[in-house]
Amino acid sequence: MDNKWYKDICVYQIWPRSFCDGNGDGIGDLEGVYSKLDYIKDLGVDCIWFSPLYPSPNADFGYDIADYKNIHPEYGDLELFKKVLDGAHERGIKVIMDLVVNHTSDECDWFQKSRRRIEPYTDYYIWRKGRDGGKKPPNNWLSMFEGGAWEYDEVRGEYYLHVFAKKQPDLNHDNPKVREEVKEIMKFWLDMGVDGFREDVITFISKKEGLPNGFPIPSACGMEHYINGPHIHEYLKEYREVAKQYDCFCVGEAPMMTPETALKYITEGENQELDLMFHFQHMEADCIMMDFIHVPFSLIRMKKAFTRWQNMLKGKAWNTLYIENHDHPRIISRYGSEAYRTESGKMLAAMYMLQQGTPFIYQGQEIGMTNISLPDLDMYEDVFVKNNYNVFKKIFGKKRCEHLARISTRDNARTPVQWTGGENAGFTTGKPWFYINPNYKEVNAEKEMSDPHSLLNFYKKLIRFRKENEIVLKGDYKEYYENSKNLYVYERTYNNQRMLVICSFTEKGVAFEAPKGYDLSKGVKVLGNYESEHICGNGFKTRPYEMRVYMF
Ligand code: NOJ
Repeated sequence: MDNKWYKDICVYQIWPRSFCDGNGDGIGDLEGVYSKLDYIKDLGVDCIWFSPLYPSPNADFGYDIADYKNIHPEYGDLELFKKVLDGAHERGIKVIMDLVVNHTSDECDWFQKSRRRIEPYTDYYIWRKGRDGGKKPPNNWLSMFEGGAWEYDEVRGEYYLHVFAKKQPDLNHDNPKVREEVKEIMKFWLDMGVDGFREDVITFISKKEGLPNGFPIPSACGMEHYINGPHIHEYLKEYREVAKQYDCFCVGEAPMMTPETALKYITEGENQELDLMFHFQHMEADCIMMDFIHVPFSLIRMKKAFTRWQNMLKGKAWNTLYIENHDHPRIISRYGSEAYRTESGKMLAAMYMLQQGTPFIYQGQEIGMTNISLPDLDMYEDVFVKNNYNVFKKIFGKKRCEHLARISTRDNARTPVQWTGGENAGFTTGKPWFYINPNYKEVNAEKEMSDPHSLLNFYKKLIRFRKENEIVLKGDYKEYYENSKNLYVYERTYNNQRMLVICSFTEKGVAFEAPKGYDLSKGVKVLGNYESEHICGNGFKTRPYEMRVYMF
């Protein structure tokens, strides 16, 4: 296996609008990021991933890009971006950008020219005539964000495809000119000095020829015709050629991905197309259909996903490790417990970060931010949850759907970062663009910094631990007690060392017995979320959300 630099780093994700406001307009910006570079450095991470910073009408908060080679005026400008980039590099921190090229904003100049058939933009998007003399959309596909996946455009007199919101028309990657544009965008940022990209829904960019009707399911009908499409590997290889000219890394986002298919993209060697891939399988232990339909949390389901990816990629490809990002509600509120915020936060951190792969930490995760609950659904901003609410209201009824919307909205992860217990949680001196979680007096970075036993300080310790112990990077993985509904137990082995990770996902006391071949009294407890260490026989009774890591 190659020893690439992206394998032993830890990445910190910034969703800029809610990170830190430097100019008092209530919106997070690059001045705010600059002011927090030392905080990020102090956390111990080695790389920042910026969710989109580009000019955008914000129909999907930056994932609808109007100008790929610029910075949104709300966040600053190119000069300020360069200052942040240099500031990060001076601190030994790399920077990767979000590359959103499955679609653009409808306000992107390319789209405006395409709808007017101005060359060379005429075929930059996926335009079709309607069926039945133009009255019906070209096929039955549904968008993930807003009803049908086709929108009729009066100017051009044709429908355009949008797999996400109406304001996010899909680019036509079958057009070589579009692919040239993508490569130019990559070079623009790489030449400026950025270190790679997170590639948004990159497995969606090749659509099946003829755009046939899809299997009728709510919200995403047609997806079998655009996920891992016919030319995807060809196109990604072209983009890889650009990346290869730089010392950069690319991580692709891939909803509905399985490890078998992922290997076609990320197996190391000549034909590799992406360095890493974000899949969603471990994020679906309490939901189906991308978060909205909730089912009771199943630890077994979560463990199966982690274990399958660890085993299947072993020796062939590299895992990404994450439990939060801007698309998922906060993990403590989902797989942990708000009542045991610090304990469960530490347990979850160790659980995923001690596996093999590159860990990602999402802003606010390190201080244990939790979900928000707003009284009125109109107060939410997320286009995704609004659509789901409308689709599923007919099936589940209004009341249940209101509840589902609250617990599943991406807005849970997008509330401003809570820096202090002071006004507006120290996020802004102005009026925050979105609601601040009312728990900010209790949950904030300042408080976490001053408490040696805080979650933040545990994250720092864990990040250091990863760096100091090769076993985390290189060790083999094996799961124990696969059928336990409360405990996740795995070992890592490397050379003559063994590391046993024990995580309880319940507040109940569970009897843990060390697996065969282990003598707990001979192990050294190297990490844990409780101070004292009671051992009883060759095991112990777990305390709420207890986690222990032993080295042998
Ligand atoms: C995935 C992004 O993470 C999400 O935030 C966005 O809405 C969709 N892709 C569409 O770009």
